Amino acid sequence: MKLFDSHAHLDDEQFDEDRKEVIDKIINSNVKRIVNVGADIKTSESSIKLAQQYEFIYAAIGIHPHDVSNCKLSDIEYLKELAANEKVVAIGEIGLDYYYDHSPRDVQRNWFARQIELSEELKLPFIVHSRDASEETHDIIKANKKKSAFVLHCFGQSLEMAKKYIDMDGYISFAGPVTYKKSVKLREIIKNIPKDRILIETDCPYLSPEPKRGKRNDPTNVEFIAKTLASELNISTDKLAEITFDNASRFFSI
Ligand code: NI
Repeated sequence: MKLFDSHAHLDDEQFDEDRKEVIDKIINSNVKRIVNVGADIKTSESSIKLAQQYEFIYAAIGIHPHDVSNCKLSDIEYLKELAANEKVVAIGEIGLDYYYDHSPRDVQRNWFARQIELSEELKLPFIVHSRDASEETHDIIKANKKKSAFVLHCFGQSLEMAKKYIDMDGYISFAGPVTYKKSVKLREIIKNIPKDRILIETDCPYLSPEPKRGKRNDPTNVEFIAKTLASELNISTDKLAEITFDNASRFFSI
């Protein structure tokens, strides 16, 4: 089996004490590719650093809605410079978070649109974080996206929204919450969207899937997400792993 974790934060401080051990464990697992995702300038840099150290790790760079309040135009220029690195495969994570509202909403909308523009300019796909802002997330993508592919990471919206994103060339990525007992509606979505638009991710160190819930998450747990999706689709976990590996490789042009 070959698994692709399309969204991880291995540079997070929760891995500072044993990052090498965690990565050794991944090397000996079924996880063969990982995209490590930045959320500000510092973590965009550390994502690239990890990707340069390990052949199977790739980097996404961008500024998360939590951190856009101090964003400057020069940050976009700097992201452009960072994107010249050959291991950078996406812009992200970018988007809207109206649950925490760490940045004013108009500022979030502005930098989300600007970073979509950046992805178009650099011909890279973009990774979307969206919480309690589904309509506006959709509208901003619709207004600003031209050719870039995009993925709704850790999808938690409705089937109707999933279909709208897919109609705009979007992908839908499932994380730990899809394994939770109460996530019945989320699991229903899997059967009602095209298989070639599904990605899987851990979003580690956050959001551990069942049966690891409550513990620190790491990319090897992506297998539990694969198992859950496979059982919904009535296919083998091997087959689901293969489909999502191919989807992610196509999405990130790896
Ligand atoms: Ni994330």
